[in-house]
Amino acid sequence: MKRVDDFRLRFGKRELVPIIIGGMGVDISSRELALEAARLGGIGHISDAMLPTVTDRHYKTKFVSDKQKQYKLNILKADKSIVKFDLAQVAESTHLHVGKTMDAKRGDGMIFVNCMEKLTMNSPRETLRVRLCSALDAGIDGITLSAGLHLGSFALMEDNPRFRDAKLGIIVSSLRALQLFIRKNAKLNRLPDYIVVEGPLAGGHLGFGMDWAEYDLHNIVAEIVAHLKAEQLDIPVIAAGGVFTGSDAVDFLEKGCAAVQVATRFTVSKECGIPEKIQQEYFKANEQDIEVNMISPTGYPMRMLKNSPAIGAGIRPNCEAYGYLLDANGHCAYIEAFNREVALHPDAKKISVMDKTCLCTHMRNYDCWTCGQYTYRLKDTSHRNADGTYQILTAEHIFKDYQFSTDNKITLPPPRS
Ligand SMILES: Cc1cc2nc3c(=O)[nH]c(=O)nc-3n(C[C@H](O)[C@H](O)[C@H](O)COP(=O)(O)O)c2cc1C
Repeated sequence: MKRVDDFRLRFGKRELVPIIIGGMGVDISSRELALEAARLGGIGHISDAMLPTVTDRHYKTKFVSDKQKQYKLNILKADKSIVKFDLAQVAESTHLHVGKTMDAKRGDGMIFVNCMEKLTMNSPRETLRVRLCSALDAGIDGITLSAGLHLGSFALMEDNPRFRDAKLGIIVSSLRALQLFIRKNAKLNRLPDYIVVEGPLAGGHLGFGMDWAEYDLHNIVAEIVAHLKAEQLDIPVIAAGGVFTGSDAVDFLEKGCAAVQVATRFTVSKECGIPEKIQQEYFKANEQDIEVNMISPTGYPMRMLKNSPAIGAGIRPNCEAYGYLLDANGHCAYIEAFNREVALHPDAKKISVMDKTCLCTHMRNYDCWTCGQYTYRLKDTSHRNADGTYQILTAEHIFKDYQFSTDNKITLPPPRS
């Protein structure tokens, strides 16, 4: 019976344990979590989502209050088109977070950054260029392009000296999206170094419609593996979404995947950025407590716990401080939904907005409890304490369970004394 450890992910001469911890914004896949994956010989992701906010929290910068002060006269206005990011600050925050993470890296693994195209930041191309190039300049091992088709992203990095040496990958949920990406980048003579195929059971935003349940990761992976073979393209394929045990991972590795990308099981690790009180909500969740809804202003479906405080919250849009989802014209679907409710209930002290949420604020405050479909199985991965709470795990324990377990078993941690 094979274990994940019988396989290796190969990048040229480099060999890695084929376990990748996926990017989880905002700062859920913390630098501590990514560093553990690298120390153990796999790949960890940090996320570049809302980095000015993240560096304020960790490194005492003042990017958010500076931006809020600059645009304070705009706070009551519906038109947010003037609220722009200072590109030098975006670069600085990326340098800080990526640089400090890479400085702390130990072991044979790698650290990548997850970069979501849907963070359009009221200047999609310019801000994305700065995010990508600053991460390369700060020494990141690789960049995983996500939440979008990224048809222009390689071109944004083309002039960077590390464009051909850093590992650059793309997350897709269909063969069609992959074909578009490869076709669009053909003229740059640069293929992706890896392809993450993310199925409908993943956490965060989904690359499917609300008909997500009709898709199966195994089928999409098989289609993409067969296509690459037919085209004689030797690019590692990485399966993601619902890989809950070492045996699930082995199944994909035996079907031609080079690695798996996992996330949900690490949401209850001590290194993960989610505060412990909320981790207990993840442990407690049952299948009926999880939903896929359309409240994200990005227009993508998103999976989350139904008791997330973000659902129905009618807070004032906070774009002067954040504004990561403002499109190229300064619009965000939440602003429209909020203004509609205010107009409908002019005398209400507190309003509720059900169809959209202020995702920046709620992700920043850990009030949007996004999760993978198998979150309801987390309770089977740990011990229940006498007070009813669950024992938080270490990332090392979870990583090694994926690496060495067989027979669909999950090893429980040593009980805390
Ligand atoms: C809490 C959480 C947050 C996530 N946030 C992001 C994100 O910001 N960007 C992204 O590309 N994927 C995100 N994902 C998806 C993961 O990186 C990963 O590909 C997927 O969840 C793997 O499936 P699993 O959670 O079933 O193991 C997130 C997943 C979770 C569980």
